[in-house]
Amino acid sequence: MNELLLHCRPGFEIEAAAEIEGRASACGISVQTRQRKGAALVEVCCADAADAELLMRSLEFRRLIFIRQWARGSWLQVDPADRITPIIQACARGPLASCLWLETADSNEGKAMAALLHKLEGPLTRHLEKTRFVRPKREELPRLHVLAESGVRLFVGWSWADNAAAWPMGIPRLRMPREAPSRSTLKLEEAWHHFIPRDEWDSRLAPGMTAVDLGAAPGGWTWQLVNRHMKVVAVDNGPMDKRLMDSGQVEHVQADGYLYRPRRAVDWMVCDIVEKPARSSALLAQWLTRGWCREAVINFKLPMKQRYLEVQRCLEHVHEALEQSGMRAELNCRQLYTDREEVTCHARRLK
Ligand SMILES: C[S@@+](CC[C@H](N)C(=O)[O-])C[C@H]1O[C@@H](n2cnc3c(N)ncnc32)[C@H](O)[C@@H]1O
Repeated sequence: MNELLLHCRPGFEIEAAAEIEGRASACGISVQTRQRKGAALVEVCCADAADAELLMRSLEFRRLIFIRQWARGSWLQVDPADRITPIIQACARGPLASCLWLETADSNEGKAMAALLHKLEGPLTRHLEKTRFVRPKREELPRLHVLAESGVRLFVGWSWADNAAAWPMGIPRLRMPREAPSRSTLKLEEAWHHFIPRDEWDSRLAPGMTAVDLGAAPGGWTWQLVNRHMKVVAVDNGPMDKRLMDSGQVEHVQADGYLYRPRRAVDWMVCDIVEKPARSSALLAQWLTRGWCREAVINFKLPMKQRYLEVQRCLEHVHEALEQSGMRAELNCRQLYTDREEVTCHARRLK
């Protein structure tokens, strides 16, 4: 139980490892990380189980950027003839759980493990029922994660629902709305799922609210705002989807999103313009400090090498601007499942 297993986007293992090392060091906990490019996993080894537990308790999962999901537990080397016994033995050493999540890495190697997990699911579930290591009615208990890295190497670990992603592997299952004009629509929906508690959607994404969508065409993000019955100013020199314009809820402004100024303050500013992250963070700082929006979702594109450093720089810039203007805001950032070479930042002004 002295190890953490982190899931991340394949290709972002260095960022996820740098992030956990930095966060652990800030808590005074020393860790060793192991990762391989493209594996979509980072292994984190602590000195002992107490340190691993302290690390997971000290960090707020929702504030992590490149880490999609995590669990605390240990790796098992198993015999393909009997994988169940060592898993059950590991469960006997850990806490009781509310459910079983069978997982793989989000990589091609991981996908190849799907058949093995499928085979394991029935017998493992039956053993967990018999041993009562999983108690489905006890929602306060952690979830049991069993991840197959290969046929002979498994991770058995636990995560707590109030401090972990709500989905196996940290991947939300969102359905592409048929009427939305672009696949990017899922990015804004996922951002809301991640940054806004479900019981606050009705007040923070409420009908009649106003929004500005910078870099809106063809309208995937605007569609989400319109779907929540908001009035949207869509700023883009490119063409907007005709059906979306026919809704009567969208005003299309053909202008440069960086120069656009709202006539009056709006509830939401969202921005999906492909630009240097420093320019996007300056734009976010401007909208917040001038009081032009109450909440914002903006993408920082990351085509450069030092991606974690760049994100930290951007967030620092926004924090400094807020401090200088005497404005308070909550700022969070995350690489969503639907984000590729980018992260999504959410800001909310505080009164
Ligand atoms: C990735 S697309 C946006 C996709 C959109 N979010 C959706 O869901 O359909 C980026 C858009 O930004 C627009 N764009 C690029 N630079 C811009 C600028 N300076 N001001 C406004 N729009 C810009 C492009 O025309 C393009 O339509």
